[in-house]
Amino acid sequence: MQTNSSSAELTIGERVAMLRGMFNPGLFKSAVRPMLYRKSNDDPELVHELTMKLMAQNESSLKMVSIFFGHRRGLRININGKDVIPFGTAAGLDKNGDAMKSLSNFFGFLEPGTVVVNPREGNKRPRVAFDPDGLDVYNAQGFPSKGLEYFKERIIAYRRSNCKAPVYVSICGLPISEQNAVDVAMDELTTLLKSLNQYVDGFVWNCFSPNTSALKMLRTPEIFEQSASLMKQHAPDKLRLVKLGPYEEAEKDASMSLIRKFMDGGGHGVVTTNTKMVPKEQVPAQDWGYPSAGRSGKFLKPYRLRSVSEIRAAFPDSVIVATGGIYDGDDAYETFKAGADMLEGYTPYGFYGIGLLRNIEKGVVARLKQDGYRNLTELREKRRMA
Ligand SMILES: Cc1cc2nc3c(=O)[nH]c(=O)nc-3n(C[C@H](O)[C@H](O)[C@H](O)COP(=O)(O)O)c2cc1C
Repeated sequence: MQTNSSSAELTIGERVAMLRGMFNPGLFKSAVRPMLYRKSNDDPELVHELTMKLMAQNESSLKMVSIFFGHRRGLRININGKDVIPFGTAAGLDKNGDAMKSLSNFFGFLEPGTVVVNPREGNKRPRVAFDPDGLDVYNAQGFPSKGLEYFKERIIAYRRSNCKAPVYVSICGLPISEQNAVDVAMDELTTLLKSLNQYVDGFVWNCFSPNTSALKMLRTPEIFEQSASLMKQHAPDKLRLVKLGPYEEAEKDASMSLIRKFMDGGGHGVVTTNTKMVPKEQVPAQDWGYPSAGRSGKFLKPYRLRSVSEIRAAFPDSVIVATGGIYDGDDAYETFKAGADMLEGYTPYGFYGIGLLRNIEKGVVARLKQDGYRNLTELREKRRMA
């Protein structure tokens, strides 16, 4: 496995500065982030690893700080029979479930992963680039994962703790074997479902990573239906979602057909949207070693808003989790109004730290009040009746 984080240890003073900055978005962006970059030879992936490592190591201090995240009255909703605060981590942020306990002190739900069966290194580094002006991230990670057995240990430890945030794990069977690739991918999906079902609250099937071209084989109506029915068979009482890539207007019908099949097979809904594949020329990094990259962050906002409202119109009873550059309370609120049930993020927290979550939640509470709603449940009910 590639791990470089040991080369960038922090002094005690730097750790304290970092922990303080995590809860102050302005301080994080202006001072803490640059400090972490200096320590990590300007490697954004290493910065992320360092941050996650520090979070995992400081769980009890973070738990104390989490009492300041108390702006949640009116934000709880019911999803698949469970009370959830609908602000979560997006897949990729905690790929292997190393920081679930710490993150659950702040986020209302977690989407660790994407977890695959066999450990993989993914592509060679550097494979992540940040654009601080555009507030976007580009990645060509290629599904690095410590694998199923490693994640299983992490989720068992999480369940033994008192942490309550629901976990909807992102999973994928990979169609990369030389023969019967799709059958092997479906067998791996089954293994993941069977091994993890008793520990999680739901699954997100991610067949839309833009950096693994073999996944295209899975993006057919038949496989969408088959995957959903496997999920229903092995996780009958859990939330069952599929992750979607951003689609252009001309691709809308094809995307809706895939979702229809997923729902027919027994799925509950979608996570929209994954990163958008862009050519190498658009990546703001010198000597980018890959022909393309998945772009996340602010750039995804129009894709996110359009897909949420179109999917809500086509599938009124589906569960919709929205992601893609949600940076403030107004944007979050508009996404709920467009039809989302839950929101999640990765890139915005990389630029501003976890303190951003508090701003987003406060912003949503203020907008609910302004529009005369007592809580988010009321907004969802009004939306349903409209
Ligand atoms: C570095 C990086 C790694 C990611 N890894 C995954 C992944 O393993 N599985 C997945 O479903 N999405 C992955 N994503 C996509 C995010 O979950 C999310 O859908 C996307 O980045 C848009 O949200 P954001 O703008 O809040 O980051 C990754 C994103 C980034 C930036």
